[in-house]
Amino acid sequence: MSESEPVAAPTGGGNSRPVFSSPTGVHQRLDTVLQRHRERLWQAPLHGPSEQAFAQLEQWRSQQGCTQALVLDSGCGTGLSTQRLAARHPDALIIGIDQSAARLRRVGAHEQPRASGRVLWVRAELATIWRHARAADWPLQHHYLLYPNPWPKPAHLQRRWHAHPVFGTLLALGGRLELRSNWQIYVLEFARALERLGQAPEPMQTLLPAGQPLTPFEEKYAASGHDLWRLRCQLQSSGP
Ligand SMILES: C[S@@+](CC[C@H](N)C(=O)[O-])C[C@H]1O[C@@H](n2cnc3c(N)ncnc32)[C@H](O)[C@@H]1O
Repeated sequence: MSESEPVAAPTGGGNSRPVFSSPTGVHQRLDTVLQRHRERLWQAPLHGPSEQAFAQLEQWRSQQGCTQALVLDSGCGTGLSTQRLAARHPDALIIGIDQSAARLRRVGAHEQPRASGRVLWVRAELATIWRHARAADWPLQHHYLLYPNPWPKPAHLQRRWHAHPVFGTLLALGGRLELRSNWQIYVLEFARALERLGQAPEPMQTLLPAGQPLTPFEEKYAASGHDLWRLRCQLQSSGP
């Protein structure tokens, strides 16, 4: 959980700069990286504290009834979107996960998970949680990746989720995946990675600024006049 944050937390107002990037299109090494990840099993060590967090998650899930459908808000930041998603998915358990104690503190979840009815917020590192969730065969109904850190520098390609070695596991979790970003290239790359791995993403959409923003970053970007992009895909579960 030591990765530096390339995106400032939203503070309100409309003065956010668009993602600065020198590239103008899909990273030219994306396909090579995807192929390499397909050929090699990723065996990086799991993050210890996140393993404990997963055990707490499983305990909560068994109290709620393990068979209930799950909605995952991966990288939930302050947790506001997790609350809003609960209203959107009235029959599911909703789990918000973020590595930032400072952001989660806003919903009262810091070192400890915080539960409120069908909603649970947990501080953890996502790659470890996704690997455990896959092994536990979580019944994922929806998976939201809302404004992930873009890592726009070309050298940081593999920090973008679609070029990260955990991407195959993320897809294997299944469910309906929704990505939102204010950086179009991130979404284009994500769509390409989905296709390369045998998935069938829906056409990328622009998000209109009408209606209540789903997340604080969305609110900030919309107020700053950024274009916002959405990609959805019903995942065909397979892989690791
Ligand atoms: C740009 S913020 C977006 C937050 C929120 N989704 C929103 O739209 O307001 C990205 C979030 O992802 C979290 N994050 C990035 N990498 C992570 C990781 N490996 N594990 C857990 N959280 C991570 C960061 O802590 C941060 O809160």
